[in-house]
Amino acid sequence: MARLKGKVAYITGAGAGIARAAALLFAAEGAAVGVAELDRAAGERTVAEITGAGGRARFFATDVSKPDQVEQAINGTAQAFGRLDIIYNCAGGSAPPDDSVTRMPIDAFWRNMQIDLFGTFLGCRFGIPHLQKAGGGSIINMTSVMAFMGEIAGFPPRHAYSAAKGGVMSLTKCIAVEYGKDKIRANAIAPCFIESERNKGVLGRMSNSERSLLQTQHRLGTGEPRDVAEAALFLASDESRLITGIVVPVDSGLLAA
Ligand SMILES: NC(=O)c1ccc[n+]([C@@H]2O[C@H](COP(=O)([O-])OP(=O)(O)OC[C@H]3O[C@@H](n4cnc5c(N)ncnc54)[C@H](O)[C@@H]3O)[C@@H](O)[C@H]2O)c1
Repeated sequence: MARLKGKVAYITGAGAGIARAAALLFAAEGAAVGVAELDRAAGERTVAEITGAGGRARFFATDVSKPDQVEQAINGTAQAFGRLDIIYNCAGGSAPPDDSVTRMPIDAFWRNMQIDLFGTFLGCRFGIPHLQKAGGGSIINMTSVMAFMGEIAGFPPRHAYSAAKGGVMSLTKCIAVEYGKDKIRANAIAPCFIESERNKGVLGRMSNSERSLLQTQHRLGTGEPRDVAEAALFLASDESRLITGIVVPVDSGLLAA
């Protein structure tokens, strides 16, 4: 079943983790994928995996916090595949040394804003005109359970990251309201602890008590990148055609407590 047959997707950070899983899944479901990634080797690996499996993908060397690079990557994706239907702003993460408001270096605040919030803004800014041209489309922005919470027990404060992801939620709602008339949908996903390669390292450095706290909070267990990619696939596909302006928690029950 090709749930994205004929569609073209632009996905940021698709060299690793959740975005990589989404790129592989979207391509397997029939989409052509523009892989926008800072790490050239990782991005090219994702493209090789997709094309090796018979799919269509193109790599674009991109820092999502640089307007000219985002514009080129999005225009390049639309040009390579003839249209653009899906924008998945996924690149991001807590940029160290993020900490509490009074402890973090001032620059750490801006670094998180630049990648997580400004990067998402840029993807929407340069992507929306292509979706309008295509007669509509789906935007998926990456937020986090951290946007809903002042802290997660057992984790150090990451106030800049939380604030940036809160901004991503608000921006998503603004876009849903403003561009609904153009048949453009905008939704966000808020994952809990997902065992990406990077987070496997974090898990390995945790004490037994921290790990057991994590398992208690995650009632269905911690997630895999594929768990988030499946939610993104639904939001990217026409199956979610009446859904816009929402945040989908993929959170193992964490926010229910
Ligand atoms: N993993 C989790 O537990 C988790 C939880 C909640 C939210 N998220 C969010 O999901 C998204 C993906 O997280 P992940 O854990 O899969 O990440 P990851 O660290 O596994 O992969 C991130 C990818 O993005 C790329 N990247 C980093 N900065 C970039 C930039 N400026 N421009 C372009 N590419 C860049 C990296 O090279 C890497 O390939 C992030 O927005 C993160 O905040 C992750």
